[in-house]
Amino acid sequence: MLTAGPTHEKIDPVRFIGNYSSGKMGYAIAEELASRGAEVTLISGPTQLTVSHPAIKKISVVSAKEMYQTSIDHFDHMDAAIMAAAVADYAPAECAPQKIKRNGEDMTIRLVPNPDIAASLGKKKQGQVLVGFALETNNAVENAHKKLEKKNLDFVVLNSLEHKGAGFQTDTNIISIIDRQGDKKDFPLKSKVEVAKDIVDHLETILL
Ligand code: PMT
Repeated sequence: MLTAGPTHEKIDPVRFIGNYSSGKMGYAIAEELASRGAEVTLISGPTQLTVSHPAIKKISVVSAKEMYQTSIDHFDHMDAAIMAAAVADYAPAECAPQKIKRNGEDMTIRLVPNPDIAASLGKKKQGQVLVGFALETNNAVENAHKKLEKKNLDFVVLNSLEHKGAGFQTDTNIISIIDRQGDKKDFPLKSKVEVAKDIVDHLETILL
C-alpha cells in the first residue's frame, strides 16, 4: 500500500490549504512495486498523474481525514505500507458553506490537528512493514530519527529541501535511508524512478 501526493483541506467551496507535492515520488514507487510483481493499492491525494501498471489499484482521496480512513480500511490486508504522501498536519476547524467574502479586516482561520496516518498504522500486526518519509528543511537527520521512533517505522526515507534537486515536484530526489538499527545509507541525486528502485530494494531486504 502506498500513500502519495498532497492533501487538500477545505476552507470554503473555492479554497483549500495544500502543499507542493506532485505525487511523482509515490507514483514511481507504486510502478516499481507493481513491476516486481506486487499488487499495489495506491491511495492518492489530488494530482495530475495517472498510473500505467494494471496491478496498481488507485483510490483517490482529497483530505487527510479521507486518506486516513482509506488507509485504515485497507492496511489490515497489506504486507507493507509506504507513506510517501505529504499530509496536512492541520485542517480548518470548519469549511464555510459559502465563499468567504472579503471585508477588508484581518481574518483568522482556526486549525485543528489531523490524524497522523503513519503513526496510526505503526500499531501494525507482526510481519507487516511500515516505511515512512521525512521531508525536512533543517536538523534533517535528527528529525528523521524522531519520526522513525514516534511512528514505529521499519525505516525512514529522508529527503531534505536543503538539497537542490530533492523534494517536491522535481523529477529527481536525493535520499538517505535510516533503519531501526541506526544505519544510514546515503544515495546520490537520481531520477525519482531510480530512487524508487533503491527504496523497493531496501524493502525487499526486510520482506523477502
Ligand atoms: O510528490 P512529489 O512532488 O514527488 O514530492 C515527494 C515528497 C517530497 C512529497 C516525498 O518524497 C516526501 O517526502 N513525502 C513525505 C512528506 C511529508 O509530509 O513528510 P513529513 O516529514 O511531514 O511526514 C513524515 C511521515 O509521516 C511521512 O511518511 C508522511 O506521509 C506521514 N504523515 C505525516 C502527517 C500525517 N498527518 N500523516 C502521515 O501519515
